[in-house]
Amino acid sequence: MEIIDLNTHPLLSLLPQTSNKKILSFSCFNDEKFNHKIKASHRLNEQDLGFFQGNSPLDLIARLVCQSKSLRLKELLESMEFYLKIRKHIKVKQVKDLCCGHGLVGLIIACLEKEIEEVELVDIQFSQAHHRLYEILQEAFPHISTKIKRSSCRLSDLFKDTTANPAFLIGVHACGQQSDLILDLGKRYKNAVAVMPCCYPPKIKEKYEFLRDVLGVVLTLDIQRTQELQALDYQVQWLEISSRITQMNRIILALP
Ligand SMILES: C[S@@+](CC[C@H](N)C(=O)[O-])C[C@H]1O[C@@H](n2cnc3c(N)ncnc32)[C@H](O)[C@@H]1O
Repeated sequence: MEIIDLNTHPLLSLLPQTSNKKILSFSCFNDEKFNHKIKASHRLNEQDLGFFQGNSPLDLIARLVCQSKSLRLKELLESMEFYLKIRKHIKVKQVKDLCCGHGLVGLIIACLEKEIEEVELVDIQFSQAHHRLYEILQEAFPHISTKIKRSSCRLSDLFKDTTANPAFLIGVHACGQQSDLILDLGKRYKNAVAVMPCCYPPKIKEKYEFLRDVLGVVLTLDIQRTQELQALDYQVQWLEISSRITQMNRIILALP
């Protein structure tokens, strides 16, 4: 088994030197008195509009989310923060939001990124929450109806497509091994990919077992993922959203 020297291993330089706990999209939620609200299970509604009275497009989208009564605050913040972290890295005209669930990340990109021509939302099944969200956003941002494409399918179906597509791939909390499938899909055609993994499956390869025993499964799996991307000449960065929103807050950004 290859022994990895923890003191000199270059992958450890990926770790943020200081953990940034700041929420960027709506700074009022940096006040600890709102911790319970971030964790709360109720869906945002008209009573929450007061938090989002600014003039920014993100405030407008948040107000529409409140009106749609479709998402919890945690879900809104996860999507907004993820979007803010990755938006400047999107250099192509197509985006695929994979295992999109409510689909808010893809919808924000369609609403606000003028250069983006198509956002494909992919999920096995689209929820009522997604449909409510789409309808209300589409009224305020009519141009998204020409940009949004919905595909009800499994990720594995996307591997059947044999034509190269330069889309930027996104996977926010795609459960379990789906994050790895999204990375594999990206590797296939050298797409840029940004995933924020969750519910880490224990699939550590033998050469990483030493690291797992020292650093734990979560960090080791992301190191394994990163090294496999780097072996294919990807430039990999680790970004993070505030851990006050979610502990599963690391974004693996891989640029070909
Ligand atoms: C935890 S949710 C994440 C939703 C969303 N990305 C978010 O930001 O909250 C995971 C989603 O992945 C979808 N999903 C799970 N397995 C899938 C698969 N094999 N192919 C496509 N979608 C899948 C589920 O239907 C669910 O909507």
